[in-house]
Amino acid sequence: MVNKVSFPRAKMNIVLLEGIHPAAVELFHERGYSPKLISTAWQKDELLAAISDIHILGIRSRTEIPSDVLAKTKRLLSVGCFCIGTNQVDLRAAEMNGIPVFNAPFSNTRSVAELAMAEIIMLARKAAWKSQRMHQGVWDKSADGCCEIRHKVLGIIGYGHIGQQIGILAESFGMKVIYYDILRKLPLGIAQTVESINDLLKASDFVTLHVPETPETKGMIGSKELSKMKQGAVLLNLSRGTVVDIAALAEALRNGHLAGAALDVYPIEPGSNKDEFVSELRGIPNVLLTPHIGGSTEEAQKNIGLEVANSLLDFIETGATEGAVNFPKVALAIVEGNHRILNIHKNVPGVLGSINNIMAEVGANISAQYLSTTAEIGYLIMDINVDVSREVTQRIESLETSIKTRLLF
Ligand SMILES: NC(=O)c1ccc[n+]([C@@H]2O[C@H](COP(=O)([O-])OP(=O)(O)OC[C@H]3O[C@@H](n4cnc5c(N)ncnc54)[C@H](O)[C@@H]3O)[C@@H](O)[C@H]2O)c1
Repeated sequence: MVNKVSFPRAKMNIVLLEGIHPAAVELFHERGYSPKLISTAWQKDELLAAISDIHILGIRSRTEIPSDVLAKTKRLLSVGCFCIGTNQVDLRAAEMNGIPVFNAPFSNTRSVAELAMAEIIMLARKAAWKSQRMHQGVWDKSADGCCEIRHKVLGIIGYGHIGQQIGILAESFGMKVIYYDILRKLPLGIAQTVESINDLLKASDFVTLHVPETPETKGMIGSKELSKMKQGAVLLNLSRGTVVDIAALAEALRNGHLAGAALDVYPIEPGSNKDEFVSELRGIPNVLLTPHIGGSTEEAQKNIGLEVANSLLDFIETGATEGAVNFPKVALAIVEGNHRILNIHKNVPGVLGSINNIMAEVGANISAQYLSTTAEIGYLIMDINVDVSREVTQRIESLETSIKTRLLF
């Protein structure tokens, strides 16, 4: 139950840049806040001019928040990145300033899964390629090399949010689903795990990649792996561009070992819509190329808006930091009749002892206390009796180790 906030909601200065989705804006209004909406990104000078008065800042990918901007924050409680990535924020500097940063990494899961399913069928029927040829005036009516996907084996590498959704969708199309993941993942539906990538490559008619970009996944699918795939199999990569060796894939497609491929991500992607897309895969038959649009849907944008707005509201009103990318994860249910103190401090020995001494000296009654730490900072939530909460907050705030302290009532 979210119901506490010490600072008047109407006076909280919430600034949402870069045209954040209306669903997020509506949520803030419903909860009694009046965010300022700005459709563009802010440059550094604009941020520096405004940042000291902002309590909550919402951005997307085009506003950079470096350490010298974060050093100028006085009131900033949190930054919401209404997108997937958080590279645009200096996360460590934010952490050291006691500012949790939230994003929405899984809001576009369904969008990616749907595109992958559509592509599996388009490739099985050579439909995209035939469509391209129709535009050139070629009528190529033939069943050669075209198949249904029912009873075919789909091999999923990386059985996380997206991989699992695809598994469920593929089963409802009648496919047999196998998967490989470095972590032991419980199967959904009747999917079966396999022991190695090689086992998966050998058994699959369609292989789809849904791994993150890590040192282990870089070049994970090269000529050796492609040669292990079935003759006439199909490869999809909607994960990260560095996972597949493009030259090796182009060769496997040209020499006919693979019957097709779909790619949404590339080792080097054009910086803007004005730049040319350069790739060895251009012009190869039955290769479906999309410009990194796996997660680009109206629904995903709305989900991102709602997820980040909810994370920010939970943090403002309860102190919860679940979903923060740079912060200790803390969430404690609100119990009525108490005041809540939130204290972010340097993670050095003796902090909890000093805080508990203060509690003992003022005779505070702690009804709940939760501490979580990173190597650099600690984050403490405490629910205490209302009559001493202000005094305790002031005394904790004045400890040398404290970075930020808030009282919710
Ligand atoms: N095309 C797009 O627009 C788009 C949109 C969203 C996500 N993505 C990308 O899709 C990928 C998957 O996203 P997700 O949300 O499912 O992530 P996730 O974290 O939920 O799942 C990734 C899975 O890969 C597994 N994994 C990690 N390393 C592995 C390895 N070496 N071998 C096998 N499995 C491994 C993990 O254990 C995890 O289960 C990410 O790279 C993400 O960036 C692309």
